[in-house]
Amino acid sequence: MSALFLKRFLRSPWRVASIVPSSKTLIRKVSDKMDHSGPRVVAEFGPGEGCHTREIAKRMHADSHLLLFEIDAELCEHLRRQFADDLRISVHNEDCVKLPDVLSKKGLPHCDYVVSGIPFSILEKAKKREILDHTYTVLAPQAHSAFIIYQVTNELRTRGHCDHFAHAESEYCLRNVPPMFVTKFFKTKAGKPLIGHRRNGHAVGSGIGSNGAH
Ligand SMILES: C[S@@+](CC[C@H](N)C(=O)[O-])C[C@H]1O[C@@H](n2cnc3c(N)ncnc32)[C@H](O)[C@@H]1O
Repeated sequence: MSALFLKRFLRSPWRVASIVPSSKTLIRKVSDKMDHSGPRVVAEFGPGEGCHTREIAKRMHADSHLLLFEIDAELCEHLRRQFADDLRISVHNEDCVKLPDVLSKKGLPHCDYVVSGIPFSILEKAKKREILDHTYTVLAPQAHSAFIIYQVTNELRTRGHCDHFAHAESEYCLRNVPPMFVTKFFKTKAGKPLIGHRRNGHAVGSGIGSNGAH
């Protein structure tokens, strides 16, 4: 599987952005940030050859849904074959910006978690903004709902790209090539489901920027 990943990297280095899949430690750190005690809707951006997907599928409730958005057609074929027997998983050969459309086609009102491994740092600002706004909008207004990213830089947090989220927690994973930040952006303040108070799809006055946490 690593060979397929390397091959796709050589074909599209900027898009794939990594020569090896995530390490076991990184996969565990990312999966540990989700609560699978009940049915959940999870979207994964950039699953690659499926290393995080396999762990999420192992932990997921029988009535959950896992929507994979992978822009590389060959990796998608590999994912389709790999998860053909798991009816909870659907593979979409689409840009992750299409998440709201795919959710509504499937009749799903929201996501509980969005997990992302796409190389955000190289996206142009407008595209980054669009993906982050869509992600925020589709997350359920519940205390557990979150956007979880693993990235070489922590720029989504430190440069304020995710200030519309209520709060964030980061940790550093050294045991990965290359080492990565894992950051969890919560849709609401801990323990407080979002009620009203929205402007342009964003919560007002509760953002990361307003409490200065970085
Ligand atoms: C760094 S790799 C991560 C692969 C895997 N998740 C892992 O941890 O090893 C990034 C993946 O995101 C995919 N990708 C990049 N931009 C994307 C986009 N806009 N929408 C969906 N997938 C994208 C690439 O094709 C690639 O498979």
